Amino acid sequence: MTGGAGFIGSNFARHILGSHPEDSVVNLDKLTYAGNLENLRDLEKDPRYRFVRGDICDRVVVREAMEGVDAVVHCAAETHVDRSNAGAGEFLTTNVSGTFTLLEAARERKIQRFVAVGTDEVYGSIAKGAARELDPLNPSNPYSASKAAADLLARAYWTTHRLPVVVTRSSNNFGPYQYPEKVIPLFITNALEDTPLPLYGDGKNVRDWLYVLDNCAAIDVVLRKGKDGEIYNIGGGNEVENVVLTRQVLHLLGKPESLITSVKDRPGHDRRYALDSGKVAALGWKPAHSFGAALEATVAWYRDHEAWWKPIKSGAFRAYYEKQYSSR
Ligand code: NAD
Ligand code: TYD
Repeated sequence: MTGGAGFIGSNFARHILGSHPEDSVVNLDKLTYAGNLENLRDLEKDPRYRFVRGDICDRVVVREAMEGVDAVVHCAAETHVDRSNAGAGEFLTTNVSGTFTLLEAARERKIQRFVAVGTDEVYGSIAKGAARELDPLNPSNPYSASKAAADLLARAYWTTHRLPVVVTRSSNNFGPYQYPEKVIPLFITNALEDTPLPLYGDGKNVRDWLYVLDNCAAIDVVLRKGKDGEIYNIGGGNEVENVVLTRQVLHLLGKPESLITSVKDRPGHDRRYALDSGKVAALGWKPAHSFGAALEATVAWYRDHEAWWKPIKSGAFRAYYEKQYSSR
């Protein structure tokens, strides 16, 4: 797998090693600001786990890491929309060129299954109804445009080269080990520190929330049972307005709503995402966690793991965050 030191990747590595005793994992990760080996401490002594530090754009490293590998689960990416709006270069390099490098190496190594982990943001904002896999792509920001490019490139490698690719497009994930720039961990940790929760625009944008462990289970199902060349939407089925979500977080922590601060909207801010997940359901997957219980567990995790997020929030992130908000 790639990007195993990030949020979804670290949860996925733990899921695979925990549920498939016969499997082993090679984790190729560059350790960007979002990669954190603390996310994987409990796996380090497992003889079935190996970490390789490297860039997915590096052909030599990628080729070596794929030696003896049956399947690639490609999670590595630049992932934060606001960062892509501030500067898109790394997004194009990692998300597009990096994916290309992996696909080429996978062809050469005759990899039997390549899972391109993707996002519902490639469909753009959905005014009504829910996106289906063959709907047109209409990404709004450099992050989602770069993910759309990666997604299409991966499928082209199936169509042209018969590389056995499957693509997942999941909705917004939340849960343990998510970098505290994304809205749920940002708002939980800000609330724990009694600092303002910056709600963009009117706060009425809607996201369909998916607990990360449910996404890991879905990626696992697609990895094993997905059909070559197919795309699978993975939605949580929990559409929530940002302002409602924010109040829920504050309520769970017993913090006042006065911490909510309206700030200038994100440029190009997608109003709503929604997915039809019928196709992955037909493979036998459905979310196992209710939104309320999963949000409560996530709030509890951040409350109990200050030692994980405090250093992140006090280091380089603090400088990025302060720079961003000084202009709002
Ligand atoms: P993340 O930002 O938490 O982690 C990304 C990981 O990729 C980090 O460990 C980082 O070090 C690594 N990485 C970045 N550039 C790299 C490079 N050039 N070479 C090697 N490693 C590199 O991301 P995440 O939230 O875990 O997302 C994982 C994947 O899931 C991404 O492809 C993302 O687009 C997709 N996705 C995420 C969400 C979500 O809500 N988080 C939703 C849908 C899809
Ligand atoms: P985010 O977690 O960045 O995910 P994405 O943009 O990929 O969906 O944001 C989720 C929603 O929360 C999105 O509508 C933007 C909003 N948001 C805020 O209101 N304030 C914030 O500080 C952040 C980071 C996001």
